[in-house]
Amino acid sequence: GAASKGEYRHFMQKEIFEQPAVIAAALEGRLGERSVPAECFGPDAEALFARVEQLHIVACGTSYHAGLVARYWLERYAGIPVQVEVASEYRYRTVVVPDNTLFVTLSQSGETADTLAALRFAREQGYLGSLAICNVPGSSLVRESDLTLMTQAGPEIGVASTKAFTTQLTALMLLTLAMGRVKGLAAETQAEVVAGLRGLPRLVSRVLELDDAIEALSTAFAEKQHALFLGRGAHFPIALEGALKLKEISYIHAEAYPAGELKHGPLALVDSEMPVISVAPNDELLDKLKSNLQEVKARGGELFVFADEGVGLAEEEGVRVLRLPHVHDALAPILYTVPLQLLSYHVAVLKGTDVDQPRNLAKSVTVE
Ligand code: G6P
Repeated sequence: GAASKGEYRHFMQKEIFEQPAVIAAALEGRLGERSVPAECFGPDAEALFARVEQLHIVACGTSYHAGLVARYWLERYAGIPVQVEVASEYRYRTVVVPDNTLFVTLSQSGETADTLAALRFAREQGYLGSLAICNVPGSSLVRESDLTLMTQAGPEIGVASTKAFTTQLTALMLLTLAMGRVKGLAAETQAEVVAGLRGLPRLVSRVLELDDAIEALSTAFAEKQHALFLGRGAHFPIALEGALKLKEISYIHAEAYPAGELKHGPLALVDSEMPVISVAPNDELLDKLKSNLQEVKARGGELFVFADEGVGLAEEEGVRVLRLPHVHDALAPILYTVPLQLLSYHVAVLKGTDVDQPRNLAKSVTVE
């Protein structure tokens, strides 16, 4: 049943391996032939989306990172300005709400106190309406929002969120395409990304086959006190999420930086005791990322790069490269999340921490 670990050692591991199936579930019945109809967000969504001129996205923790990825997507593919904020900040400040702004919450549980309070506060601020992207049907957030999209990840038991995050991203790409359709995104691009989404569960399965290789890498982290995650563009939030996973379950201090900010501070910390993890899908930022990696290498830093199989990055002394299957640019953040989850998982297992119930953390923070 859902509450049993089956063949797996931990719930987190089971949930990581469920991702091909739950991403397929998140897509089920929602893809048109060559586009995403707004109706999957409810019967009133099409008319509402046509009026939307801005989005404010509010969430906590891992769900906040999903929101940060969505900003890159929505601005690029739907041309809609997006602001993303953690709920505990949003709810206590003066927020300027431009006309025709849609308020969006992201939450696995639908019960996070700050996110719920943010929604209640937002309802008084003159938004066009509210949308909740959530994993728990009937939760407070779902009941109190105008529109909802369920992420269909099934129960998530591990405190460190995994499948809830990748299904949130999947749902957010559906939102991007549905908005893009209303806002005039090229039909060809819509069709390409829809085709990419159909193939995504299969690609995630292929990444899960890297499990043994990632377990072998994890030994390099077990004795380390710190780690630095780098990414650019929509992979900067993926680096943030990778760092959060490592902190949560292995208690290694980890930070994430947009690779271009490296020389504005964190480069001073790089030495042989500071492993640097980077995600390098084959997109237009690759050349810039490569030169950042050189800077790390030149300072004796140990580099771990997750790269597209087509990327010309060679393994050498101090540089380990793991190859991922090629994926459409738009969907790379979903795919590149998976090896970072596996890396944290294996480091935590090596360190002997309580993977499913990390110290001091709760699955759902229902009090402030
Ligand atoms: C807690 C959990 C995180 C989660 C966050 C937001 O901190 O440990 O895994 O990302 O709450 O939870 P939500 O249910 O709103 O997504």
